Amino acid sequence: MRPLVLLFAWVWVVSLVHAAPRVTREPYLQLATPNSMVIRWRTDDRCTGLVRYGLTPQSATNLASHAGSLTEHIVQLKSLKPDTRYYYGIGRATNRWFTAPSRLDSFVTPPVAGPARPTRIWVLGDSGTANLNQAAVRDAYFAWSRKQNPDLWLMLGDNAYNTGTDVQYQKAVFDMYTGLLRTAPLWPTLGNHDAGSANSATQSGVYYDLFTLPTQGQAGGLPSGTEAYYSFDYANIHFICLDSHDTDRSPSGAMAQWLRADLEATAREWIICFFHHPPYTKGSHNSDNPKDSGGRMIQMRENFLPILEAGGVDLVLAGHSHDYERSFLINGAYGFSTNLIQANILNHGDGRPDGSGAYVKPVGTTSHAGAVYIVAGSSGQISGGPLNHPAMFLSLNKLGSLVLDIDGSELKATFVTDQAKVRDYFTLRKQ
Ligand SMILES: [Fe+2]
Repeated sequence: MRPLVLLFAWVWVVSLVHAAPRVTREPYLQLATPNSMVIRWRTDDRCTGLVRYGLTPQSATNLASHAGSLTEHIVQLKSLKPDTRYYYGIGRATNRWFTAPSRLDSFVTPPVAGPARPTRIWVLGDSGTANLNQAAVRDAYFAWSRKQNPDLWLMLGDNAYNTGTDVQYQKAVFDMYTGLLRTAPLWPTLGNHDAGSANSATQSGVYYDLFTLPTQGQAGGLPSGTEAYYSFDYANIHFICLDSHDTDRSPSGAMAQWLRADLEATAREWIICFFHHPPYTKGSHNSDNPKDSGGRMIQMRENFLPILEAGGVDLVLAGHSHDYERSFLINGAYGFSTNLIQANILNHGDGRPDGSGAYVKPVGTTSHAGAVYIVAGSSGQISGGPLNHPAMFLSLNKLGSLVLDIDGSELKATFVTDQAKVRDYFTLRKQ
């Protein structure tokens, strides 16, 4: 009997060793362009990742894969049609499928850059607490939007507390937004907490390992040569991501030089810039204090706002302070809050069509025609503060997230709380 028992035990051990790979990180979409999409996922054992896709779940028979046998699967689907829904399933060679194409495993490619198309953008800042506050902000957005996905979404940094490790990213991003990650592309920026496990100069560490970001202008905009800062287009919108934490912030540095050229080159109607450290805040951080955050808020304000405003920026999004602060339509305020003068505020109203009226700018991109600055760093926690920066129309110590709806020459912003209540909104119009 004994040899037979040993044989069974050996077969059992061998079967364990050769167990089929399992998915340990669900699919997520990256680097969306009108003609391509990157699909990423992770397995607990090496295999050759495979994606099948098509215009209907039934016809999802086109195949794409990556080279080699890996646990981190990065597959780019190419030659896609713009503004078109594709259904996909992930699996491994040969034709073993982990997921099946369905509405819940599908995406819409971005439209061709240039022409307007109604676009919804969801914006989360400092969301990475992985706690009930973060989940409440997430659920409130989907309740408010009636389960309508955004076309794309942004993370403003501090995406995973406390040091941006892979385990922390799993909890605060991949487990938290599983359904959205597989259906809408995420575009992140680096926060100081993410930088605890990442290095921008070498583009290494967890943040850079997890995200596939454009370095060569693949999604529109000029090549930056680095994933630390980049730009991309979506319909009539040009998005610019800067690295306010771990990249040279001097006016003669590579990032500033690239930004000038990128702004010069864009022909899009709307310019939205996002980075982590806010140029104006009186929340859990103080943008007047040179010692706060190593002076990064002051450096971004003094060195980058003049470039952005000269380039016609419309909206600047940041986090870092765990609150919501939203400015008037302002221009040219590069000093301390005590130096802000009335001439910096181009419109003293609330920006609301049913209030004192939308903020209005000339059609196209005009230098120094005003921008709205938003701190949206309360998607995972709130930390209070004096909340009295004079550039701000409104400052709230409230959990929530920001929604942008752009339709032609109109941009609508809405702050949705963790209770699915709208606590701020305004409209920016080009006419
Ligand atoms: Fe931060």
